[in-house]
Amino acid sequence: MDTSNSAVSGRRTFAIISHPDAGKTTLTEKFLLFGGAIQVAGAVKSNKIRKTATSDFLDIEKQRGISVATSVMSFRYRDLQVNLLDTPGHKDFAEDTYRTLTAVDSVILVVDCVNGVEPQTEKLMEVCRMRKTPVIIFINKLDREGQNPFDLLDEIEQKLNIKVRPMSWPISMGFTFKGVYNLHKKGLYMFDPGKKVTEADLLPIESLEDPLLDEKAGKHAAQLREDVHLVDGVYGGFDKEEYLNADAAPVFFGSALNNFGIKDMLDTFVEIAPPPGSREAQERIVQPDEKPFTGFIFKIHANIDPRHRDRIAFVRVCSGKFRRGKMYHHTRLGKALRFNNPYSFLAREKNVVDEALPGDVIGLYDTGNFKIGDTLTEGEHLQFKGIPRFSPEIFREVVNADPMKSKQLDKGTAQLTDEGVAQLFTHPMGSKKIIGTVGELQFEVIQHRLLNEYGASCKFVPLNVYKACWITSDNADKLDEFTRFKMHQIVYDKDGHLVYLADNSWMLDQMIKNNPEIEFHFTSESL
Ligand code: G4P
Repeated sequence: MDTSNSAVSGRRTFAIISHPDAGKTTLTEKFLLFGGAIQVAGAVKSNKIRKTATSDFLDIEKQRGISVATSVMSFRYRDLQVNLLDTPGHKDFAEDTYRTLTAVDSVILVVDCVNGVEPQTEKLMEVCRMRKTPVIIFINKLDREGQNPFDLLDEIEQKLNIKVRPMSWPISMGFTFKGVYNLHKKGLYMFDPGKKVTEADLLPIESLEDPLLDEKAGKHAAQLREDVHLVDGVYGGFDKEEYLNADAAPVFFGSALNNFGIKDMLDTFVEIAPPPGSREAQERIVQPDEKPFTGFIFKIHANIDPRHRDRIAFVRVCSGKFRRGKMYHHTRLGKALRFNNPYSFLAREKNVVDEALPGDVIGLYDTGNFKIGDTLTEGEHLQFKGIPRFSPEIFREVVNADPMKSKQLDKGTAQLTDEGVAQLFTHPMGSKKIIGTVGELQFEVIQHRLLNEYGASCKFVPLNVYKACWITSDNADKLDEFTRFKMHQIVYDKDGHLVYLADNSWMLDQMIKNNPEIEFHFTSESL
């Protein structure tokens, strides 16, 4: 395998994010078809977790298992190696998505033209903004009657707090959807709903006055002329630097289901999306073209076979070359580890890989050595930064339901929270354990897995907690005073950081106002 700069610069690692049902799975599949990674439509299983009235826990785990196989999908497109990292479709697993976003170099955001910007999209974009991840936006389902494109772009700018730069513009929508005008290539892509696999060719037009436009778009030509005139006046032109700095997002319109607008976007994506970049560790900044291997764990997935407690830890390679069977240094444990069967993933196939380069993601079998955020090197002591934890939204106390199995319960909760299924907080006094999650579903998954994998049973007692904030201060006395004053609401996270559990938003606002010397953090990233 080539280790030269060109091998690094020839890689694009990205994720597709969306609100559930906006069309992420459909778009993924079309990308894989273009990349030749799959031959038939329907080969990519949705990783959506469907919770029906009869859904049992095993079902949830099985459905989650499907997403292991599609965790990373790699394909070649126009001489580039493209790595597409999958993100869970269910909102209760949003933390998984946040972490996956730390392992990509750019993002494609899918917005449904009927529903517009939905709450989950806002949160995901917040993470992209925090990390300055470049974003391309795909407005999907133009074959349906959606909102006016100007209104949609307004909503995106306001709610997602990013400037938009339309690259194409739709000619009508819904039943009368005719296609798009590519503002940069100055040509038309006409929509033919019958044509499912290859995208129609660009029809160049001299100018918007070209009679070909009237011929192709009929009575919608006048509207397009008016719209494009307005677009030119309202939005600035595309500037690659603005995109790379995450200040502006290029926008495409299309229909994933009809394979329309996808190739145009993919061609632009491979031209503008950034290759693997440098990465900040606590000690220094690591460049992708450094020779020694470095990488970090951003996701841990339990195997679905309950007889084995093996897990798969996903590593993003940051520099150098990872080699199968070589000894690597686990920096947190100070331990040497060898991986004989690292995996790469392609659609539903799992293959053993011999080598991996910056931007690649490999799956390592883990028997309990890894935590989210762990760093692997060839010996250097490094700890990559930036695997944030977010303030959870639902809190419950874990109560042991089987006193004979308290050790198992402790071990199970510790390991499951290392995997990032949920966050664990402990009271400084006594052994009260609190689990915080972003969704209800995790509690069911935890309860089920504790019983099946660790033989421990527990109950969850709901707690009246609104938010958990990490607290720090430059003034140690003030921090000490605050933690004593709020003793019953102070807990430690797994890394021993102090956390304040606020009952409600009013109380939290009061605390922030009345304690100017204490900093309240809503993600662990700034600690
Ligand atoms: P997700 O991964 O973001 O959750 O969305 P997914 O691709 O599963 O798409 C959600 C639904 O929207 C699917 O329909 C899919 O067929 C449909 N869809 C995706 N792109 C388009 C589009 O361009 N136009 C239209 N009209 N629909 C689109 P479903 O009925 O929920 O699922 P299925 O039975 O078709 O798989």
